[in-house]
Amino acid sequence: MSLLKEFLSQVGEGYLLIDRENRVIFGNEFLTKRGLLKEGFEGKPYYECLNNLAVVSCLAEAISDRRDKLCNLDHEEREYSLYVFVGSELTVARFSDITDLKRYERSRREFVANVSHELKTPIAVLKSLLETLYEEEEREEKRRFLDKALRRVEDMRRLVEDLLILTKIESGEERIKREELDLKLLVESVFELLESQAKERSISIHNLVEDGFRIKGDWDKLFLLLKNLVDNAIKYNREGGKVEVKAQKDKPNIVVEVCDTGMGIPKEHIPFIFERFYRVEPSRSREMGGTGLGLSIVKHIALSHGGKVEVESYEGKGSKFRVYLPSE
Ligand SMILES: Nc1ncnc2c1ncn2[C@@H]1O[C@H](COP(=O)(O)OP(=O)(O)OP(=O)(O)O)[C@@H](O)[C@H]1O
Ligand SMILES: [Mg+2]
Repeated sequence: MSLLKEFLSQVGEGYLLIDRENRVIFGNEFLTKRGLLKEGFEGKPYYECLNNLAVVSCLAEAISDRRDKLCNLDHEEREYSLYVFVGSELTVARFSDITDLKRYERSRREFVANVSHELKTPIAVLKSLLETLYEEEEREEKRRFLDKALRRVEDMRRLVEDLLILTKIESGEERIKREELDLKLLVESVFELLESQAKERSISIHNLVEDGFRIKGDWDKLFLLLKNLVDNAIKYNREGGKVEVKAQKDKPNIVVEVCDTGMGIPKEHIPFIFERFYRVEPSRSREMGGTGLGLSIVKHIALSHGGKVEVESYEGKGSKFRVYLPSE
């Protein structure tokens, strides 16, 4: 134990060890120096020697549920992430200072938001100029060039729009409504938008959500989430394939599933597909005109609703995206 204590006193993170009777048996210098833990803590209940209420309630919840827990908190102008591991004999709390990481994340978000915002107007102007030229042009060859240019400008417009949406949702600035929604109707309106795209590739789309199935959330955001999942299910499907959307209750969640009969996603790519700009086969995806932001938007919309998204995929057979949303 003394070797372990010596090691823990030198690391750049905070460690707090609590026994089964809720008494602190060890806390390293990181915690006392930063004012999170009072001096003379040994043998005392943890709630008497911690200086931060958020830490106490995170620990109390983890210990009473007997389940590991992750919390983020502020203390004396620094931000920490606190991970509580609950063992049978010992509870270990690890504090990591994430102030610089958060600062970096904020400046990245602001930079992306500012650049995207500045690009919006010139792209809109370029688009309308090209449209006018296209309409006035009578020579077939020139029209083809202009059509190509217009498509590229449309890609840029979508990229900027997706980046702006993603930045807003990710930062938590965007207010998420919690209205009661009819899921079948929501899926229907997503299908209306993507119907022609599916028809072009002879893909049948099926809304298998029960009549009157209700969920709680933000119509516009959940529309965007489903639009991205169904768009992928069509885009990465085989000619003549099938797309199904279903929903079921699995307390305390509602699970919405989007299934396709497409090419599937190779196992090694699965951990990364929800990251910004990640694509399994960049060359093929580029041909399809995507930006690689779709699933990142899906993930952040699910998170902003207090939910999550998971994927199950079989190469050559298809994929199943499951969105979990709290039912209350
Ligand atoms: N249903 C699916 N079947 C097979 N591969 C998929 C499926 N959904 C996503 N992928 C893979 O994951 C990658 C990331 O998807 P994502 O929706 O984020 O980007 P995208 O579709 O390329 O572009 P965007 O959605 O921004 O237009 C895709 O490029 C594709 O390779
Ligand atoms: Mg996509």
